Amino acid sequence: MKRIIIITGASSGLGAEFARQVYAQKSTIGMEMWLVAREADKLNQFAKTLVGKNIAVRTFAFDLSGTDGAKRVKEILDAEKGKFVVDLLINNAGFGTYGPFTETDPAREMSMIDLNCTSLTGICGFVLPHMQRGSRIINVASLAAFLPLGNFAVYAATKSYVLSFSMALAAELKERGISVCALCPGSVSTNFANVASNGKRRDVLHGCDPRKVVTHCLRASRRGKKVALWAPKWKITAFMSRFIGRYIGARFTYLFNKRPH
Ligand SMILES: NC(=O)c1ccc[n+]([C@@H]2O[C@H](COP(=O)([O-])OP(=O)(O)OC[C@H]3O[C@@H](n4cnc5c(N)ncnc54)[C@H](OP(=O)(O)O)[C@@H]3O)[C@@H](O)[C@H]2O)c1
Repeated sequence: MKRIIIITGASSGLGAEFARQVYAQKSTIGMEMWLVAREADKLNQFAKTLVGKNIAVRTFAFDLSGTDGAKRVKEILDAEKGKFVVDLLINNAGFGTYGPFTETDPAREMSMIDLNCTSLTGICGFVLPHMQRGSRIINVASLAAFLPLGNFAVYAATKSYVLSFSMALAAELKERGISVCALCPGSVSTNFANVASNGKRRDVLHGCDPRKVVTHCLRASRRGKKVALWAPKWKITAFMSRFIGRYIGARFTYLFNKRPH
């Protein structure tokens, strides 16, 4: 039976690193890897770098946002011939917007919810019937999931959703032997800040190496961990967030963590 790995947002940053590392694993030999992102050229160029192993890499270039994006994933699954199982789903595609809510574009904020929340939820729902005992889901949330954040209000709320949903899903799927892990990274060096700041901040401030974050997350997921927090300072922040009032956290970050937008 064909075994499939699906990685969304796989053309750059964390998604591309997930693809590289999963491709390199011995256990994935003979499987098929589906990579999804919008920009076809970039995605195909990246896919060409994955060589040397008996893994078929297929690329799908389309917008995953919202109900339509998730339904497209369902159509691709429905069109698949023969018996197959999805071994690993990595819901990584996502973006943020910097700045106070009143100074951001409401349409962009809504499209963020469409991608970070609606699409991720739909994809889980449409892929799960094709999973079996031992299959795994990794949903990419963020350290921002643990507290409301000023100047990052909608993004932090979307990632709280991802963390909450992933945890509940993990609880519901326990008896089926399907694991769900929420990756909650702090700053990682990717194209994230460039997108979130509309090009005003090219690099993520104090970003860490995506390779370390992804290696740790894949190991955590294999071990059945529900949350992956790589850096000790991220673990401390996540823990301390329990003792900081939600309003205080939001007010503090609004006043002292300005973000170019
Ligand atoms: N970097 C950080 O500091 C950080 C921290 C915490 C969490 N995260 C999370 O990590 C995930 C990956 O982000 P990243 O940091 O790796 O950023 P990135 O380098 O900008 O990568 C984003 C990926 O998602 C794809 N994508 C964006 N919008 C899409 C859409 N509508 N449909 C399909 N694909 C789409 C992009 O390709 P196309 O543009 O071609 O579609 C790209 O492949 C996100 O969920 C983000 O929220 C990042």
